[in-house]
Amino acid sequence: MEITLPRSDDFHLHLRDGAAMADIVGHSARQFGRVIVMPNLKPPVRTVADALAYRERILAALPEGAGFNPLMALYLTETTTPDDIARAGDEAAIIGVKLYPAGATTNADAGVADLARVRSVLEAMQRHDLPLLIHGEVTDPDVDVFDREAVFVDRVLGPLRRDFPALRIVLEHVTTRHAVDYVRASKDHLAATITPQHLLYNRNALFAGGLRPHYYCLPVLKLESDRQALVEAATGDDPRFFLGTDSAPHAQGAKESACGCAGIFSAHAALELYAEAFERAGALDRLAEFASQRGADFYRLPRNTGSVRLVKTDWRVPDAYPFGEDRVVPLGAGETINWKLSVESL
Ligand code: NCD
Ligand code: ZN
Repeated sequence: MEITLPRSDDFHLHLRDGAAMADIVGHSARQFGRVIVMPNLKPPVRTVADALAYRERILAALPEGAGFNPLMALYLTETTTPDDIARAGDEAAIIGVKLYPAGATTNADAGVADLARVRSVLEAMQRHDLPLLIHGEVTDPDVDVFDREAVFVDRVLGPLRRDFPALRIVLEHVTTRHAVDYVRASKDHLAATITPQHLLYNRNALFAGGLRPHYYCLPVLKLESDRQALVEAATGDDPRFFLGTDSAPHAQGAKESACGCAGIFSAHAALELYAEAFERAGALDRLAEFASQRGADFYRLPRNTGSVRLVKTDWRVPDAYPFGEDRVVPLGAGETINWKLSVESL
């Protein structure tokens, strides 16, 4: 059995930088036509100049004619200016601006502690019609880590959308039924990405027979009922749920540590992992929409030309892949995946 998909896009991806980036970018270039590259480098990708220079480094790491288009997001800080936004709005390679609540996740310390300090920037984004990409978790230590997304939706996203009704927003990597219901109920200007791990696993995976750092990401895996809501959203009719892997590689030692980093590497098998999730839901016929159409439509990009083929065949995921001086352990390491992306595109 095989299925053919129009060439897909990954609307949420961490590529890192330097030798590590050069080792992993090929995985995404093989799988996807376009990606949105997250800006949480150290230091962050703050300005248009930072983003364009980073984009050049990404392109330079790929063979000529790879046909891969990295789209860039700026990192919103409390020093971002409306001018930065005006410049970004004029640049086709810049697709949006990423909001990390300060301290919410990996390299989010330069993020926004108080949204009141970026009001003029959000107004400029609304004016220039530049989407806001949100890591939707509150950082209040009094809020249970499993509730941080739901509390963000209620306390932050609701008021933000009331204040900036024309701002296009992507709630990244939704993980809860609460967030899915909120997106469904909010018809205008709001969409959400869904990762493969949140479709395939619930929080039991973190503790199966011991502590499993390679299943740890932020937002953290949630309940089985949340996972089911995500599967319903990804395979359902609402066009505002689309593919964003949040593939976020860390060196093996940084994960397998007394204080392991948040982030799951899935770029090696992104489409295959989604195919597994859709097949289990009996919804393989919806994968093309989710992976290749809805995101492009939301971002007002043309749909890709060309296609890729997924063949039903078992393969064993390697224990690790090269990652600069280190190795990165991929999602599903050592396990069998039963879809395989065919290397030659049609
Ligand atoms: C991401 C990373 O490592 O950059 N980690 C993660 O767990 N998803 C950051 C992020 O998107 O939260
Ligand atoms: Zn991310």
